[in-house]
Amino acid sequence: MRSMLALLEERMRAALQRLGVEADPLVRVAQDEQFGDYQSNCAMGLARTLKKKPRDVAEAIIESLDVADCCAPPEPAGPGFINFRLRPEFLATELARVPVAPRGGNVPSDARADGGAAPPSCLLPLTSCLPQPGDSADRLGLPEAADPQVVVVDLSSPNLAKEMHVGHLRSTVIGDCICRILEFVGHHVHRENHVGDWGTQFGMLVAHLRHVRPDVIEHPEQLVIKNLETFYVEAKAHFDADPAFAEQARATVVELQQGDPATRRIWKAFCDESLRHCHELYRRLDVCLEDRGESCYADGMVEVIRRLEEQRAQHADGPVQESQGALCVFLEGFQTREGTPLPMIVRKRDGGFNYATSDLATLIHRIEQLKAQRIIYVVGVAQRQHFEMLFAAARRLGWAPPQVRLEHLGFGNLLASTGRPFKTREGGTVKLKDLLDEAVARARRVVAAPADEESGTPRALTPEEMDRIAETVGLAAVKYFDLSHALTTDYRFEPDIMLSLEGNTAPYMLYAYARVRAIGRKGGVDFTQLPANAPLLLDHPAEQRLALALARFPETLETVVRDLTPNTLTDYLYVLARAFSRFYDKKLGVPVLAATPEAVRISRLRLCDLTARTLRVGLHLLGIRTLEYM
Ligand code: ARG
Repeated sequence: MRSMLALLEERMRAALQRLGVEADPLVRVAQDEQFGDYQSNCAMGLARTLKKKPRDVAEAIIESLDVADCCAPPEPAGPGFINFRLRPEFLATELARVPVAPRGGNVPSDARADGGAAPPSCLLPLTSCLPQPGDSADRLGLPEAADPQVVVVDLSSPNLAKEMHVGHLRSTVIGDCICRILEFVGHHVHRENHVGDWGTQFGMLVAHLRHVRPDVIEHPEQLVIKNLETFYVEAKAHFDADPAFAEQARATVVELQQGDPATRRIWKAFCDESLRHCHELYRRLDVCLEDRGESCYADGMVEVIRRLEEQRAQHADGPVQESQGALCVFLEGFQTREGTPLPMIVRKRDGGFNYATSDLATLIHRIEQLKAQRIIYVVGVAQRQHFEMLFAAARRLGWAPPQVRLEHLGFGNLLASTGRPFKTREGGTVKLKDLLDEAVARARRVVAAPADEESGTPRALTPEEMDRIAETVGLAAVKYFDLSHALTTDYRFEPDIMLSLEGNTAPYMLYAYARVRAIGRKGGVDFTQLPANAPLLLDHPAEQRLALALARFPETLETVVRDLTPNTLTDYLYVLARAFSRFYDKKLGVPVLAATPEAVRISRLRLCDLTARTLRVGLHLLGIRTLEYM
């Protein structure tokens, strides 16, 4: 299967070339299906340059277009649009090309096994949790990317001083979805968990640990901290109340940075324990990533300063300047509220490094060592300015060549259902684990609803099955709800909406999948055994609509890969699920199991199977597991 949008663009480009003009074909999905499936408005712009009527230009393009194999004759419309409608026979041929049985083996499962070497200074071993081969074994006949790229995705990245809280949900879920899609398309992805494991807080934590758990020095592997949050609060209280301890904590930071072995051992024990907490959640969320924390760039930061000092020595009036004792990079376009230049501080007046230093070192590693061609930072919008300055500095200093794409995928906040920031009753942060538990508990109530004939739910589910289904549905609801919102807007945690069986929700999608699978069970049909070369027959409008929806999967992925908008995929899956619902509707649709003659029945079963597989792969790319019944 190939992208219909790309195909039409290609045909448009050829037509324009024949006319001897250069222009972007501007093919889009049509706004109103009444006028067609796709639309180009490239004639409008061209008319201006050619000083002709848009309508005439549109007609000339149509004249030169060669789309007879795939479209009904295109029509000019309105002031100068060109409308395309794909021919059902063409859709049928395209879809019939998808192999009947999902074939594994060509999944880029070990794409990242190679380039993951840690920088020499990496103090913590990389935890690798690679996606399992076969996870996305069904490629639905999609070809792999013609130009596979090395892409770094910076995701999740909590600070290890505390336990993961609700604020970490979005980066983890959105980042994972972006990785899954890029991997599926065939790119080499580094899933970088850039955890905060370095800096002054760790001096305090290590000093406190040494105090309350002297045994850790001998047996670092035995460290268990039940509640990281309480531990942090205790350490902080200790720090605030006891000046002698505060002094110790500050000395510990220095020891840590200078590499004192005993201090490093305790620090490592703490980070390992904190990471174990994180990975419990990652496992539960089915998220794979590699831990490569800020501490990995300790030497890199020294190198950053060396390079900056070198630039400063070479260009006295260049961007690198000392200002009030701090080493700074001055960049065009960044100003304080008062209108004075806003520098990026890379070494503080006291000689210390900061977030910018660490991110510059990280960026150098990603470009020079990992050979990244695209770097995507999945971090809240609050850090927008940090990344704008980081990218501007990296370009200005010549560390990020122009062909390397740098993107900050900023997202809005997850708010409580009241529309206010998420807080516990006591005003503390809400743990991510608690939020997931709540979603699962609520899902259990939905799952416990009476058995449903059509989705094939067996009458009595065992308690274990109920638990398993509730866990899947609850986590799916959280993820789907998150991913279906436009990235940059805030949204509210609303369990009733996200667990509803109606609308663009995970339960609706999971139900749609289970329902299609139930058709196979009911009719005793093994979808993988359907004849491979049986033609698809698309006579009924409901069949045509479903076929068109199925054929739009490739272009949907293309869009997400380009624009990094997971909600394009959720919207697509919702359209597909509804097209299926229409197709299978008793009044508006067509019979499937009871269809005659046999060729029609087989064709419809093929459509059912393609729907189930597209839903499953699509949900998988969102990080959601499907259920055979619910
Ligand atoms: N640890 C940071 C935080 O909690 C996020 C790190 C994001 N990644 C990065 N390369 N800056 O805010």
